[in-house]
Amino acid sequence: MGKLKLNINDVAPWVTIDEVNLMADAANMANVALHEGTLAGNEFLGWVDLPSSISEQVIEEIEATSIHLRSRCDVVVVIGIGGSYLGAKAVIDSLTNSFDWLQTKRKDPVIVYAGNNISEDYLHELVDYLDGKNFGIINISKSGTTTEPALSFRILKDKLENEVGKEESRNRIVAITDASKGALRTLATKEGYKTFVIPDNVGGRYSVLTPVGLLPIAVAGINIRMLLLGASEMEKETGKDVVFKNNLSAIYAVTRNELYKKGKKIEILANFHPKLHYFAEWWKQLFGESEGKDNKGIFNAAVDFTTDLHSMGQWIQEGERTIFETILSVDKPNEKIEIPHDDADLDGLNYLQGKRVDEVNKMAELGTRLAHVDGGVPNIVIQIPELTPYYIGQLIYFFEKACGISGYLLGVNPFNQPGVEAYKNNMFALLEKPGFEKETEELKKRI
Ligand code: PA5
Repeated sequence: MGKLKLNINDVAPWVTIDEVNLMADAANMANVALHEGTLAGNEFLGWVDLPSSISEQVIEEIEATSIHLRSRCDVVVVIGIGGSYLGAKAVIDSLTNSFDWLQTKRKDPVIVYAGNNISEDYLHELVDYLDGKNFGIINISKSGTTTEPALSFRILKDKLENEVGKEESRNRIVAITDASKGALRTLATKEGYKTFVIPDNVGGRYSVLTPVGLLPIAVAGINIRMLLLGASEMEKETGKDVVFKNNLSAIYAVTRNELYKKGKKIEILANFHPKLHYFAEWWKQLFGESEGKDNKGIFNAAVDFTTDLHSMGQWIQEGERTIFETILSVDKPNEKIEIPHDDADLDGLNYLQGKRVDEVNKMAELGTRLAHVDGGVPNIVIQIPELTPYYIGQLIYFFEKACGISGYLLGVNPFNQPGVEAYKNNMFALLEKPGFEKETEELKKRI
């Protein structure tokens, strides 16, 4: 099987290969620190050897639970926010048919999401959609106390129990949470739900290769063993003894940090396949939450091309020169469509007849890269042989490892997220949650 490739040729002249190589020792030290747990955040390094160390028993339990849910449910609602849903959605969207959820005759359940917003309309529309459908729930929260998923779960649990009764709903609800702490663990124990544990030493945004991601992904009909195999291949390829020139995660981490030092403060992750939209959302959380602290960090943005070339393309080509672009380039599409001949040729496209649509997409990609480099946008390319579970597994681990190294190079703790509490505290105070009386009083004076 093949491997991901990384091309940093187009970051010169902004950053030279010599400048990248000069950082080899620092990157190697950061990588070793991730393996040996010698730097900040070392209580959250369980993800480092997760692909190779996940037990056969856990995999089998996930597979068995996915078979159980698939046999009972036409729709499965994945409840979770941030790291508790983005990994699953990223993988499921990347590897399933874009129109599958619209099909009436399906072999896999439809996966829908809740608990990732507090929109009343969204919840109402979801409840309407679920009417009369056999649905189940995977409720995911590491802390077990996050407002968004807790609120959605309360509403959807109530609906499920009203429709199928308490006993059958216990058969259709799975809780994924901390081994012993938190409201969700307490509730799951009380109700007797099937549960999976999110390991203490794996933070939310690094949890896609735990049951958090693996269960929904398996329910969607995706081969989780191939996903894990790809990830464990990348675990080896970026291991602590791998030399810098062969360690793709370390090279990517260094390159983006060197660009940042040169004033390239925004990284745009670009894809040419809409299936990868949510992969970029997962990536945004991974890097944004890991690095954006202590008043530093690259701002992570994402675009879907060629769609966004007709909107953000103008800004990227000619706006402020503070950006660089990382392209997710897929070598081989899974499907084939050839462009047909048309006698009238009114659209002038006969020069493309007989070519694959992907050949046009590839030229759009190359043309975009050349144009953006000419316009002052350094370009990094990550080449993915195909969109399969194996390569998506590689890509996940590639970015996770790069993020850990990159955070340490930047001088931050990549495994905490203290800033996320600020909005929560204000929201609780404004909602007059017991225990927040002082904050409520102070905020009321301001508004
Ligand atoms: O990366 C993180 O830790 C966060 O994004 C969490 O995943 C998110 O806040 C959800 O938290 P929890 O799973 O505790 O409900």
